[in-house]
Amino acid sequence: MESIKLNITQALNFIPEDEYNKQMVPATEKLRLLHEKTGAGSDFLGWLNLPSAINDNQINEIIAFANELRNEVDVVVVIGIGGSYLGAKAVIEALNHSFDQLLTTRKAPLIMFAGQNLSQDYLSDLLEVIDDKNYAIVVISKSGTTTEPALAFRMLKNHLESKIGRKQAGKRIIAITDEKKGALKQLANEEDYKTFIIPDDIGGRYSVLTPVGLLPVALAGISIKDLIEGARFMEKITGQDIAPEDNPVVQYSIIRNLLYRHGKKIEILVNFNPKLHFLAEWWKQLYGESEGKEGKGIYPSSVDFTTDLHSMGQYIQKGERILFETVISVTQPGKQLNIPYDKTNLDKLNYLAGKSLDEVNKMAELGTILAHVDGEVPNIHIKIPSLNEFYLGQLIYFFEKACAISGYLLGINPFNQPGVEAYKKNMFALLGKPGFEEESVRLRNKINFS
Ligand code: PA5
Repeated sequence: MESIKLNITQALNFIPEDEYNKQMVPATEKLRLLHEKTGAGSDFLGWLNLPSAINDNQINEIIAFANELRNEVDVVVVIGIGGSYLGAKAVIEALNHSFDQLLTTRKAPLIMFAGQNLSQDYLSDLLEVIDDKNYAIVVISKSGTTTEPALAFRMLKNHLESKIGRKQAGKRIIAITDEKKGALKQLANEEDYKTFIIPDDIGGRYSVLTPVGLLPVALAGISIKDLIEGARFMEKITGQDIAPEDNPVVQYSIIRNLLYRHGKKIEILVNFNPKLHFLAEWWKQLYGESEGKEGKGIYPSSVDFTTDLHSMGQYIQKGERILFETVISVTQPGKQLNIPYDKTNLDKLNYLAGKSLDEVNKMAELGTILAHVDGEVPNIHIKIPSLNEFYLGQLIYFFEKACAISGYLLGINPFNQPGVEAYKKNMFALLGKPGFEEESVRLRNKINFS
């Protein structure tokens, strides 16, 4: 079985020669802290051995349930935000047909998402298009109290109950939440919804290989067995028994931390395949929420190339030299498409006739990397043999574990997110939520609404 390949040679040139090797000792120590569960946030390490710990019964239960529901509905609306949304969205977008919504041969229900914003237009449009559809709702919230998904659920539940009646709707609503606590758990108990559990020791952004990601992915007709198999493979090749210099999560964490220390404050995750757009969104949450603390942390950003070469390319080539890139490169495209010969050749493209479009894309990739490295943008390269469940599972686990070690190298707790509360507190106060009266007065005085 092949693994994804990390190449850091085009980044090593940007740091003094001996620094990388010197970091092996602290990074190995962080790996040990992680495995021995003695580092900061060690109550949230359920994801670390999840791929090998999840058993066939758990996987088969999800698959069996998904197969049954898939036969009953045309659309599944998955409600969730942050870690309760991005993992499933990333995997589904990466592996499904790019134009799934218009695909007439689709065998699985269309997966749509809600609760990831507060836009009235978005939710109204969604309610409009599902009004005549046979649909189910998967509502995901670990806390069970997050405003965005809770509001979306309130409205969608209302819609579904008015459409097919409360009893029938109860059979079409699936809750994924905490085992014991939270408003969603209580409602699921009262209404007897089918429920899947989010383990206590797994935070949202590390939850893609729990039912949070697995159920929506299985509902989309994607093999969760292969996804977990890939994560298992990566778990094995990143263990404590692997020599640190051969351990890709150690390598990636060290190089990005060193680049950061040498002024490269922004990491851009680059793809040359738009199917990976949401993988980058998932990655941004994972790294942004994990590392952005105490006035520290690499700012994670992303681009889709070659599209964004025509918008962000100028800045990356010539703007502030505070950037480095991590390119995810897919070796083998899923489909074949060759460039035809044209008699008139008005576009002067006959020199490409007979080549595949992917050959052109690959040269764009190579050309871009060379240009950006010349422009002092260090490059980290991650090669995936092809875009499938197995390699995506590897990539997911790779990024999760490297994120934990990176966070420890940075000296922060990568498993909390205290900063996320600030906007919530203000929003509640401004909306007049009981209990926030004092804060409301303080904010209104500050804003001066007169
Ligand atoms: O990573 C996290 O913990 C967050 O992004 C959460 O996943 C997000 O805020 C949603 O929380 P919940 O699942 O409790 O609704």
